[in-house]
Amino acid sequence: MKRDFIRISDYSGAEILSFINSADRLKKHKGQLGNQLKGKSVALVFQKPSNRTRVSFAVGVYELGGYCLYLGPEEINLGKRESTYDVAKTLSRYVHCIVARVFDNKDIMDLAQYADVPVINALCDRYHPCQALADIQTIREQWGVYKGLTLAYVGDGNNVFHSLMMACAKVGVNVRFAGPKGYDPDPQIVKEAKEAALRSQCKIEIGRDPKEAVKGVNIIYSDVWVSMGQEDQTAKRVKQFKAYQINEGLAKLAHKDYIFMHCLPAHRGLEVTADIIDGPHSVIFDQAENRLHAQKAVLLKLVV
Ligand code: CP
Ligand code: NVA
Repeated sequence: MKRDFIRISDYSGAEILSFINSADRLKKHKGQLGNQLKGKSVALVFQKPSNRTRVSFAVGVYELGGYCLYLGPEEINLGKRESTYDVAKTLSRYVHCIVARVFDNKDIMDLAQYADVPVINALCDRYHPCQALADIQTIREQWGVYKGLTLAYVGDGNNVFHSLMMACAKVGVNVRFAGPKGYDPDPQIVKEAKEAALRSQCKIEIGRDPKEAVKGVNIIYSDVWVSMGQEDQTAKRVKQFKAYQINEGLAKLAHKDYIFMHCLPAHRGLEVTADIIDGPHSVIFDQAENRLHAQKAVLLKLVV
């Protein structure tokens, strides 16, 4: 039976760790070319712009000996030029894996249901599982462990946070969320994360106060206040999130060796100040690099 990679919750803690171990091994052999995907093709179906996801998948497939083709909004126009069903069935006759970045979570779920080949979620409005894997890899790389660590996420309870919270819950990292009213993470996803956290003996806390959230934490995480597709809400969001900026005053409450994480793209002066994101605690480009290794690990498990 084919396996998709749509949500972190579809994978056990042990499976997540096995992805990370594989990603670490791949990183040790960085730049080395393999042939595990020889004769295999991967389609990137993207409805939104991308730097990291697009490039790291294309390069990852190349490094594993496969062929990758990018299909932007102009080419496929999912659900508009033709139905998601027809796209999924057609692509399944040509390629061995579909990596898709979509607006609506339903579209990625439908693609996975109809495709006869594995489907990887390259971001939708609810999840960003590839980012979460790379982040979990980065956390262990920096701290050496998961158990006993605490991560504070300050900002919007969005796609990136949903997947990150679930991944932390699965491997045993405590999570504290702080964001303004009206921007909490989805309660159903929080409930599932809390259940997973119970099994791995860590805690998920959802609150409002950024100072409470970052007190003594090992990791501070931030993402944009306005995600792709929400541009019309920019003025309102910038006002409402103002108190949730990561700056020196807030970061000094964290553990002295805290790391600062951000999935990028970032807006200096909004969700984070330049001195923090470009400062000595920031690991943003390690995260970006690890997208490559973590996604190669996913491709090896799903496609080979
Ligand atoms: N973090 C991330 O997914 O970046 P891109 O949108 O550039 O792919
Ligand atoms: N939350 C952001 C993440 C970008 C990688 C967005 O969806 O635009």
